[in-house]
Amino acid sequence: MSFPTRRLRRLRTSAKMRELIQETSLSPRDLICPVFVQEDLKTRIKVESMSEIERLPLDDINDEVGAISDLGIPAIMVFGIPSKKDDKGTSAFDDNGIVQKAISQIRKNFGDKMVIMADVCLCQYTSTGHCGITQGNKIDNDTSLDILARIAVSQAKAGVDTVSPSAMMDGQVAAIRKALDVEGFTDVSIMSHSAKHRSSFYSPFRDAAECAPKFGDRKTYQVPFTNAREAMMEVETDIKEGVDIVMIKPALSYLDLIAETRRRFNLPVAAYSVSGEYALVKGAAMQGWVDEKEITEEILYSIKRAGADMIVTYFAKSAAKFLQQS
Ligand code: PBG
Repeated sequence: MSFPTRRLRRLRTSAKMRELIQETSLSPRDLICPVFVQEDLKTRIKVESMSEIERLPLDDINDEVGAISDLGIPAIMVFGIPSKKDDKGTSAFDDNGIVQKAISQIRKNFGDKMVIMADVCLCQYTSTGHCGITQGNKIDNDTSLDILARIAVSQAKAGVDTVSPSAMMDGQVAAIRKALDVEGFTDVSIMSHSAKHRSSFYSPFRDAAECAPKFGDRKTYQVPFTNAREAMMEVETDIKEGVDIVMIKPALSYLDLIAETRRRFNLPVAAYSVSGEYALVKGAAMQGWVDEKEITEEILYSIKRAGADMIVTYFAKSAAKFLQQS
């Protein structure tokens, strides 16, 4: 009889032993919870394709943020759905816009007890549904930069901690950094959607935030999912432009890029586990085909294991609940 030279099972013999050996940790502290706020809304609206996710009226925001905070989650990401859209997305940088109102209300109520992050993009605000300003059928990079910078400054005035540009325009981090600095907001940080891929995993979000493009697609500005080196160039460029936190998005099909970003750079790395990743789990769980808690846990731990320091996820609240209990 021959004995195995190495018995890895020895360190799996009991729950306590496995606890001791566990390499990756996950805590509510690692999570960023998205919040959708809609202008002129009277009561909450359920998002059809994202079970348990709702668009909130401004009046419900403080309650929602309070619930998130009670779960030990340190940060939220605010997305706005405006009543009016136009070709320049003016409601995105209106000091009285829906996101600006939500930010200042949260700031007033929670002080520095919640990290307030907000999406900086145009697709919810433009009549075209594109993330930049269109000229003819083209998304014009450089005119979009000015607008993105104005959005960031208006959110900073409202009291945001971190602006999160997701438009994928070249030079957006530099343009935003400069505008924030000039206006005196040197402490407002930037978490860029650095490597944001053109992805079918965003479809439920477009239902949540009414931002589907009216023509064409986002292939001229988002990163192709076939190109890892190009994704790393996006990360590198954002770092050169002064970004504070880099993000890889989506998360689950892009774990290789999260790992590579972690290895190559020293900035905090965020991962965005997007709406489609959420909807797939929810859909299967609602059929009873997978165990929602276990699969959520496995997905979030995998994203941490790949190297993410923080995760933007629609599972933030439900995961924080089971993490608090365990
Ligand atoms: C807006 C934006 C999108 C997402 C975050 N910010 C949509 C898009 O680019 O089409 C997607 C997030 C998700 O699917 O959860 N630019």
